[in-house]
Amino acid sequence: MTAPQVAHTSQLPASTLAASRALLDDAFDGEFADADWAHTLGGMHVLVWEGDALIGHAAVVQRGMLLGERPVRCGYVEGVGVRADRRGRGHGGALMAACERIVERAYDLGALSTSEEGAGLYLARGWRIWQGPTSVLAPGGIAATPEEDGGVFYWEAGLPLDPTEPLTCDWRGGDVW
Ligand SMILES: CC(C)(COP(=O)(O)OP(=O)(O)OC[C@H]1O[C@@H](n2cnc3c(N)ncnc32)[C@H](O)[C@@H]1OP(=O)(O)O)[C@@H](O)C(=O)NCCC(=O)NCCS
Repeated sequence: MTAPQVAHTSQLPASTLAASRALLDDAFDGEFADADWAHTLGGMHVLVWEGDALIGHAAVVQRGMLLGERPVRCGYVEGVGVRADRRGRGHGGALMAACERIVERAYDLGALSTSEEGAGLYLARGWRIWQGPTSVLAPGGIAATPEEDGGVFYWEAGLPLDPTEPLTCDWRGGDVW
């Protein structure tokens, strides 16, 4: 298996970004919204190529979070998808391995919000469920996100973590987690 390409959004040609969006539209069966795509931009992309064909994508973007009351820099994983006919061959694992290295080198911690389909992959790799209450720093103040409790996973990156603490993400359009 060839190593994934790792590049910042600004380094990728429009054709590669378009291929990434198309791959994610297919991988999520048409459920990948414009806001979901926006969430993948502005950070590092991890791309698996098979010749000229893009078959895997993931991204790590920086988000400001509050760990209890402490501000932390979080590497947030977004847009993880492998082309349906190439799954079960380790490409998802290769994407995540590259994301984990980015998180460990650049951020205080890693986090992501999982789908049911992704949970097995993340748990098997050592991602753990954030046990504390989750919330978002909304324009009107901190708002609890109880529907996300138990669905946010984290990756340690050097900062000592207590996963029972409250975790608050920054505000954005679309799904906040
Ligand atoms: C989740 C997703 C990215 C996983 O991609 P993948 O390439 O199939 O991932 P991997 O092959 O690395 O691992 C998937 C499974 O295949 C297994 N596997 C890995 N290498 C394998 C191989 N050579 N042969 C057979 N199986 C293998 C893994 O053990 C894993 O098993 P599990 O289902 O028990 O966890 C993919 O299913 C996908 O794109 N889903 C739709 C979008 C989605 O839900 N994304 C996650 C959002 S949070």
